[in-house]
Amino acid sequence: MTKRLDGRVAVITGAGSGIGLATARRFAAEGAKVVCVDLDEETGAKAANEVGGLFVQADVTDEAAVRAMYERAVEEYGSLDIAFNNAGISPPDDDSILTTGLEAWKRVQDVNLTSVYLCCKYAIPHMQRQGRGSIINTASFVAVMGAATSQISYSASKGGVLAMSRELGVQFAREGIRINALCPGPVNTPLLQELFAKDPERAARRLVHIPLGRFAEPEEIAAAVAFLASDDSSFMTANTFLVDGGISGA
Ligand code: NAI
Repeated sequence: MTKRLDGRVAVITGAGSGIGLATARRFAAEGAKVVCVDLDEETGAKAANEVGGLFVQADVTDEAAVRAMYERAVEEYGSLDIAFNNAGISPPDDDSILTTGLEAWKRVQDVNLTSVYLCCKYAIPHMQRQGRGSIINTASFVAVMGAATSQISYSASKGGVLAMSRELGVQFAREGIRINALCPGPVNTPLLQELFAKDPERAARRLVHIPLGRFAEPEEIAAAVAFLASDDSSFMTANTFLVDGGISGA
């Protein structure tokens, strides 16, 4: 039976852990050739090995490295069909407007927002040449609602990802390139576990607001990414795709 992503070439950033890792597994199971990008050599290489793909070690804030990772994907597999721009970091400790320092603010914008700008900038020309492509940028539910968790630099970075995805989705629609923003609710990954370890009561406070009454598993987010990557979502672009257990609808 033909699989949904048969023959498609996908580059995933942050593929060594959490949502990126679950998506690498899901894409491979759906037939894609997967390029796993991560700053962390050990986890990135492990992920690539597991899914039978290629590992490229890159820092997504480094312009030359981002450009090179897409060139490497095309060199190895012949095209670039899917870019899942997903690498990101959690908020700094006590990320309140009153306490977050300028350096911490800039670091979060660099890794969470500027990286997506760079990934889109260098993925799109490959997709223009092919006349098709699907880009999924990881934002967050905090891009669409105030979450009152004092994570100002993080929320601002994700709002930027959402606005940029909509803008680019509209701009490149007529060239066959679909660009959507993925907005997960809280997902059980090392990123979230790290936040809860610093503030154990945060988990309980957060759970109260999730109608489904639990955190997502990374595989549930990966299923949504596979949908956005595939032709099953062929009439969707510039979309805000919430996979959040109902948190933004409550
Ligand atoms: P994670 O911490 O499990 O995985 C993130 C991966 O990105 C790691 O493998 C890390 O090495 C890599 N990475 C970090 N900085 C990098 C850089 N400069 N260059 C290359 N790779 C880098 O995190 P998780 O939870 O899987 O998060 C993935 C994305 O989903 C992030 O953008 C995050 O902000 C977003 N998100 C996560 C939610 C959650 O509750 N876990 C909720 C909403 C959005």
